[in-house]
Amino acid sequence: MRTQVGIIGAGPAGLLLSRLLTLQGIDSVVLENRSRSYVEARIRAGILEQHTVDTLIAAGVGDRLQREGLEHSGIHLQYPGTRHTLDFPSLCGRTVWVYGQTEVTKDLIKAQLDGGPPLLFEVSDVTPLDVDGDAPRLSFTDADGVAQVLECDVIAGTDGFHGVSRPVVQEVGGRVWERTYPYAWLGVLADVAPSTDELIYAWHPDGFALHSMRSPSVSRLYLQVAPDEKIENWSDDRIWEGLATRFALDGWTLETGPITEKSVLPMRSFVSAPMRRGRLFLAGDAAHIVPPTGAKGLNLAVADVTLLASALVRLLTERRTDLVDSYSDRALARVWRCTHFSWWMTSMLHRSGDDFDAELQLSQLRRVASSEAAARELAENYTGLPLDL
Ligand code: APR
Ligand code: PHB
Repeated sequence: MRTQVGIIGAGPAGLLLSRLLTLQGIDSVVLENRSRSYVEARIRAGILEQHTVDTLIAAGVGDRLQREGLEHSGIHLQYPGTRHTLDFPSLCGRTVWVYGQTEVTKDLIKAQLDGGPPLLFEVSDVTPLDVDGDAPRLSFTDADGVAQVLECDVIAGTDGFHGVSRPVVQEVGGRVWERTYPYAWLGVLADVAPSTDELIYAWHPDGFALHSMRSPSVSRLYLQVAPDEKIENWSDDRIWEGLATRFALDGWTLETGPITEKSVLPMRSFVSAPMRRGRLFLAGDAAHIVPPTGAKGLNLAVADVTLLASALVRLLTERRTDLVDSYSDRALARVWRCTHFSWWMTSMLHRSGDDFDAELQLSQLRRVASSEAAARELAENYTGLPLDL
């Protein structure tokens, strides 16, 4: 088997990369170790920056997004006694969209299987080989248990945080930075209309809470909990009570409904550099993780593959190496900006248990609510900065 770009992982990063390359006449093969149904059922975040929406539409996978996605022009920032609305268009001229990452993945898989390049599910033992030369290969075992080799010009490591690509890059030198936060999110999906027009990010003495949504009839809600929290300790009633307390505001009520899914999400920041070794390029969660507070994970993956696709097209059609040579630095500049923003949002909104921290957080929240400059800084980062910083 031979292809121009061998792609490891069928998450949003790998699937979108394959799609962007196809549109530029570059062929690829995507190797995924899980099944299609597993990949399509993974529940992840749901906020898309304008750039992400534009990229998906330009890539021909934006039809359902344009029909079912919900455009949002701001967020509510809440702290005791105050629910302050940030209006993004007036602050920075951009908006964001609510559309589940699960739906983005389904749309990309559908497009891929509908006449796109090969996408192989349930492969195993994927191993990048000879990445330092001009003829890298991917060895793997296919779904029937047969050993295969895929010869490539380039390999894209879009295999997420637990993938095999990052260790291959780090093996010859590199660096990682990591921060594990001392709390986690308990996330639920509920069959109830959102009780709010815009997402609510709430600071509360009991801990952070977030009211998000997936559709006009499905709400997505999160509560800050301890990192070792046992999900069994949270009955549906306890969850709704915790949420009602943290979002409480005079004249407003939280509607409740059947909870259809609940899980605990760890919170960490992680960056691995460089994002390239020879002919192996990393993109998305394979190279970096952000805590979910700023909703940057998927958007960052889309920004990476947008940069990577144009760099690979230049390499493979014009034989010019300038963009692949600058890829890692350009991607990392944006990665660190989003890492900072996600850390900042996380630090401002989560209770650490320390009263000094709490006063600093409240002071920062009041600043964002009262200063247009402070609000604009949040809005510009939240809605997405330009591709090249
Ligand atoms: N071989 C083949 N596939 C693999 C391997 C492997 N060894 N290891 C992991 N994978 C697959 C995973 O099963 C997954 O489908 O790679 C894919 C990686 O996808 P994601 O984890 O979704 O990562 P990415 O595509 O970078 O998406 C970016 O945005 O909201 C964030 O964290 C969220 O996943 C999200 C991310
Ligand atoms: C979500 O809807 O899952 C979501 C929204 C905003 C965030 C994080 C997650 O900051």
